[in-house]
Amino acid sequence: MTQDELKQAVARAALAHVVEGRIVGVGTGSTANFFIDALAGIKDRIAGAVASSESTRQRLESHGIRVFDLNEVDDLPVYIDGADEITVEMHMTKGGGGALTREKIVAAVAQKFVCIVDESKLVPVLGRFPLPVEVIPLARAYVARELVRLGGEPRLREGFVTDNGNLILDVHGLSIVDPEALEARITQIAGVVACGLFARRPADICLLGGSAGVRTLSA
Ligand code: A5P
Repeated sequence: MTQDELKQAVARAALAHVVEGRIVGVGTGSTANFFIDALAGIKDRIAGAVASSESTRQRLESHGIRVFDLNEVDDLPVYIDGADEITVEMHMTKGGGGALTREKIVAAVAQKFVCIVDESKLVPVLGRFPLPVEVIPLARAYVARELVRLGGEPRLREGFVTDNGNLILDVHGLSIVDPEALEARITQIAGVVACGLFARRPADICLLGGSAGVRTLSA
């Protein structure tokens, strides 16, 4: 199977976690896009969706799925999204698509986070994929210096502005042995909006697509 076929398989499997008659939180990226396309097939059985990015909002709406503002939603049973890396502890690196802040907010509201990935994303230790950090433009140089102090090599994502009007520093060279501590440490730096580590709010389950089919992992 190709990587896209594996992503499609986990996206279809995620439909089993959508709660009938309710709103579903939807992530961002190529795997989430396959999920949106699959969700269109059952759109009459859900109340609508909350989007973690403008691109996701547009894709949902293009399928005729109603998109709610998160502020209108008190209760979100499930959030479904991809990841750039995930460990068996369900810790993730996210933000390759630059939507990490909204993804983190929607994930925080959701009762259950279902991560959908192909097997190439499962790693023993996070850090091979550069860690995205969203920063207020004024703080770019200061945050970069602080990230160097933490042992990373931050690189500005050239020509990219987030949906929130901010910048992304992609931090190379980290071996993230304590993701919860590093997430807390980076989030405390003045000017950081969000860090792409999802350790304090890990996934609840991971649907992992491989050549043998879709496996369900949980911590
Ligand atoms: C978007 O900002 C990211 O967090 C994505 O969820 C992540 O990059 C996975 O994307 P793909 O499904 O395209 O690999």
